[in-house]
Amino acid sequence: MKTLMLFSTRDGQTREIAAYLCSQLHELGVDTAMVDLNRTDNIEWQLYDRVIIGASIRYGHFHPALDRFVKKHATVLQAVPSAFFSVNLVARKPEKRSPQTNSYTRKFLLRSPWHPDTSAVFAGALRYPRYGWFDRFMIRLIMKMTGGETDTSKEVVYTDWEQVAGFAKEIAQLSRK
Ligand SMILES: Cc1cc2nc3c(=O)[nH]c(=O)nc-3n(C[C@H](O)[C@H](O)[C@H](O)COP(=O)(O)O)c2cc1C
Repeated sequence: MKTLMLFSTRDGQTREIAAYLCSQLHELGVDTAMVDLNRTDNIEWQLYDRVIIGASIRYGHFHPALDRFVKKHATVLQAVPSAFFSVNLVARKPEKRSPQTNSYTRKFLLRSPWHPDTSAVFAGALRYPRYGWFDRFMIRLIMKMTGGETDTSKEVVYTDWEQVAGFAKEIAQLSRK
């Protein structure tokens, strides 16, 4: 049996975090399979005994596919040990990096029919050179308003990889239901 790692990403940072989680889980003796949440037409649930879902924020929202997926599969998600993580830039501030203090994550968990056994919030990446002009302009404005990086030539990864490794340990210890 494997752990199913589902991820929803726009620019790739959530995929990188998911891949790192998988490598850490592998070291802890846990087999994983990574699947893009937007390409999940036919999941063979019987192959998996644990599920992790990770998703990023864009303009205040997770990808709508996340809600759709969770609604559709709530019963099976609820039946196995499970974990959720969110990725966003508000979480670059340590005080906004917990499921309780990160409003995107808190709201998702409150309204979700699925109640993961454990959740985490990871800081994402700021990659100005890769954005189109509108996104670059908007993100810079938000960064200016919130005291963040405004140099648009920069790419900054805020993810705390030790925090991610710690989450892998927590997931590895989730016991069967
Ligand atoms: C167009 C755009 C909008 C974003 N909106 C938000 C936001 O509203 N709040 C936030 O905390 N981070 C926001 N971010 C930051 C992303 O969550 C961060 O870059 C994350 O690493 C993206 O993960 P992904 O590459 O897996 O999609 C935004 C990023 C972009 C490019």
